[in-house]
Amino acid sequence: VVEFEGKPRAPVVTVMGHVDHGKTSLLDYIRKSRVQAGEAGGITQHIGAYHVDTPRGMVSFLDTPGHAAFTAMRARGAKATDIVILVVAADDGVMPQTEEAVQHAKAAGVPLVVAVNKMDKEGADPDRVKNELSAHGVIPEDWGGDTQFMHVSALTGEGIDDLLEAVVLQAEVLELSAPDEGPGKGVVVESRLDKGRGPVATVLVQSGDLQQGDNILVGQQYGRVRAMLDENGKAIKNAGPSIPVEILGLDGTPDAGDELIVVKDERKAREIALFRQGKYREVKLARQQA
Ligand code: GTP
Ligand code: NA
Ligand code: MG
Repeated sequence: VVEFEGKPRAPVVTVMGHVDHGKTSLLDYIRKSRVQAGEAGGITQHIGAYHVDTPRGMVSFLDTPGHAAFTAMRARGAKATDIVILVVAADDGVMPQTEEAVQHAKAAGVPLVVAVNKMDKEGADPDRVKNELSAHGVIPEDWGGDTQFMHVSALTGEGIDDLLEAVVLQAEVLELSAPDEGPGKGVVVESRLDKGRGPVATVLVQSGDLQQGDNILVGQQYGRVRAMLDENGKAIKNAGPSIPVEILGLDGTPDAGDELIVVKDERKAREIALFRQGKYREVKLARQQA
């Protein structure tokens, strides 16, 4: 077995919080993009995955929907992540999906940084947010707890650089590393069936170097990385730790949370995938043909 050396890697940060508290707007400000304005009804419907060169260093972000219907998606996001940014609108306070996000982060054992957003608004009351979150066991540092509360506005950009600094400091404490050589490994963030391109899976690479042409096994699916795209749709040849990519070439749509591994032999990948699908007769046939 070849052991590959761990190298420092970018933190993976999931942005969670109640619907319309400003998660996507915050990422738009950080990325200098306008995703939120293009969303149907202004509601996030899927997990967005981005690798961003921030003023504080490289950070990968997962943007999750706040809508109640997306509980499972948030749970998976929390699992694939190193740090959660919990966005709470200062004029609205703690709401059901805020509480749920706290539970997901706790269940996954992931540290939280609270972004008290919409500080530019008339009714902003950050102390109320501190009180309400403290009641859920999320205690601010200045109240003797261990959670950083950052006051921000996704509209004006106020406090966002400090928020990024807090996140990067938190990440440094975690001493995140992963080998950037050897077979790629990752986790599925989401997948869909595209009319023209077939199954498309958004995968967060977690270790190694995932390359175009690799034979992969992903949950119950298998295939060959026919093409790999970055978050801007640009074709790339390979991707290392903490990089989100879209993968084309799978035989079906894997489930969010499924693990991706690279396998030497495509035949073996197919066999394991069939086995996982419960198609034992076909596994037997494939073996007889081999
Ligand atoms: P979901 O994905 O639907 O859960 O929402 P979200 O949390 O991503 O919130 P989104 O970014 O869609 O913002 C909701 C609304 O709040 C939009 O109209 C934003 O323009 C507005 N908004 C977001 N952040 C701020 C802020 O800091 N100040 C003000 N005044 N408005 C904001
Ligand atoms: Na919204
Ligand atoms: Mg959103």
